[in-house]
Amino acid sequence: MKAEKEQNQNTQMLTGIAEPLLAWYRGHARVLPWRERPEPYRVWVSEIMLQQTRVEAVKPYYERFLSALPSIAALAEAPEEQLLKLWEGLGYYSRVRNLQKAAQKVMQEYGGALPASYEQLKSLPGIGEYTAGAIASIAFGIAVPVVDGNVLRVISRITGSFEQVDTAACKKRIWKELGQIMPGDAPGDFNQALMELGATVCLPNGAPLCERCPLADGCIARANGWIPQIPVRAPKKQKKVEHHTVLLLWQDGKIALQRRQEKGLLAGMWQFPSLAGRLSREETKQELERQGAEILEIRPAGQAQHIFTHIIWKMNGYDICLKQPLGWEGLQFWEPKEMLERAALPAAFRHYTALVRQAAEKEREE
Ligand code: ADE
Repeated sequence: MKAEKEQNQNTQMLTGIAEPLLAWYRGHARVLPWRERPEPYRVWVSEIMLQQTRVEAVKPYYERFLSALPSIAALAEAPEEQLLKLWEGLGYYSRVRNLQKAAQKVMQEYGGALPASYEQLKSLPGIGEYTAGAIASIAFGIAVPVVDGNVLRVISRITGSFEQVDTAACKKRIWKELGQIMPGDAPGDFNQALMELGATVCLPNGAPLCERCPLADGCIARANGWIPQIPVRAPKKQKKVEHHTVLLLWQDGKIALQRRQEKGLLAGMWQFPSLAGRLSREETKQELERQGAEILEIRPAGQAQHIFTHIIWKMNGYDICLKQPLGWEGLQFWEPKEMLERAALPAAFRHYTALVRQAAEKEREE
């Protein structure tokens, strides 16, 4: 009963937001490649990419992806190496694998066109409530809400809610409330306007630009000085730290790469081989020799760090010249130029990939 009453109160508070929000959006929306032609495939790709990183960072990836794979049919048939290469640096590679699985299903079951139904969209691999809502509303004009982190922040502030936002219950409540007040004739603009407001005006970390907000007058958090406290989130869990010794193993001008396991973090991606732990130069040399390597030279290749969702990698690398190739499982030696063009290396290795690029450029100059 209590929850229902609160929901009704919130719905009342939200009733007036659609009109000023839409007017603001029509004057302030950023010009983005997927907004100019909001076709289902284009919206889908953009929304999956936008789950990974900010709008500005997505743009070049998006253009490149769409010119390489301009249709669902092309995506369904793309070789895995090409897919991973197009996604290189975006992270969460399972997302692009699911994108392809869904494209294959769309080819088989829907004649190559995304279905104009929220439920059917949601049944495709990698398409959850958020993405299904975004495609349904933006590309097909179906009135379903989308609730991402931006929307949770905006709505919690407008309604002055101290409910913890990173829970399924809170998302569900806000989804339902928005469903009751969203305009049936502009659901895509309404959803995008809320996300846009969160991304450009109702900023996180206590720094919103309320003077530019079309909803400032009715905002309960602003009226009460609660902006710094809202939204409420669960305390962050400590991330586990892993140390790795990264090996740039060179043999006769070629560099060694190894495939990661098919399950878990960065599944199936190429990587530079590594040893567990932070080993000194001498320890690294000894360990490699114990495993049968003949080392001509070993030099430090610097340190790097990469933060994943639950883990932090702290890496220390060595640049190593081998007399003969090593026979480790899954190890392949690549021409640097070919590696840079064809192998998808996770962004975690960016520092070391740059060293290979420098070495390849130096080689070319000589
Ligand atoms: N963030 C994710 N998708 C978005 C969209 N369609 N508009 C604005 N911000 C977004």
